[in-house]
Amino acid sequence: MEKSFSLIVFSFFSRQQTPFANPLRVDIHSHLLAGIDDGSQSLEESIAMLKILRTMGYEKFITTPHIMSDLYRNDPDGIRSKLSELQQAIATEGLSVEMQAAAEYHLDEALMHKVARSEEILTFGKRYLLFETNFLSEPLQIKNFIFQATSKGYQLMLVHPERYEYMTLAKAEDLRNRGVVFQINVLSIMGYYSRPVQKMAYQLIDKGWVEFLGTDCHNLLQARFIFENRTNKYFQKALHLPLLNNQL
Ligand SMILES: [Fe+2]
Repeated sequence: MEKSFSLIVFSFFSRQQTPFANPLRVDIHSHLLAGIDDGSQSLEESIAMLKILRTMGYEKFITTPHIMSDLYRNDPDGIRSKLSELQQAIATEGLSVEMQAAAEYHLDEALMHKVARSEEILTFGKRYLLFETNFLSEPLQIKNFIFQATSKGYQLMLVHPERYEYMTLAKAEDLRNRGVVFQINVLSIMGYYSRPVQKMAYQLIDKGWVEFLGTDCHNLLQARFIFENRTNKYFQKALHLPLLNNQL
């Protein structure tokens, strides 16, 4: 009798002392601003996503709506206004999270022009400029873009390199030699997209070619997926890399 009681207490205690500890306090890639891209579609959804991610240990979010000339023509002023809307909702809700915003820039002609003409580009930290490319083929202008943007003092961060079908370890190494830092998606590591994407994420982690992790969380479903897979072995492995998230 006494033995089984101890067992119950022990098992309760074990559950309280959950083995999961997320050292990441800062998330640098998400789509939390409501209704301006393919991310959150309402303030209610944004708040629900934030509550789940807060439970995982995240305290600060630099959220990054898409800027893409064909699909999402967001601009800095529009993003700032959506940011203050979300900050107000967070305050009303009494959530203890800090919210900032930048953007996820699609590598297209519009971005090349912004860099060339020194137009305002939303960055954070050490002038980190988040950019993504198309998913199928390597963009012809990528090396020129890296040269131009780096010359203007931007620190380029390629988001989810593991998701591009054209990506190989040799191409990844070449980009890194050109000064580009990598942000891997937590969702990729956890197998949300596909096996090949997960495999490439594993390889980049094994190489240690990861400066930042990002949730890239677009909706409540993804927030739940991240939470439910928080003890994923490779995610835990990635958390032991010298990540720079918490410096921001
Ligand atoms: Fe994204």
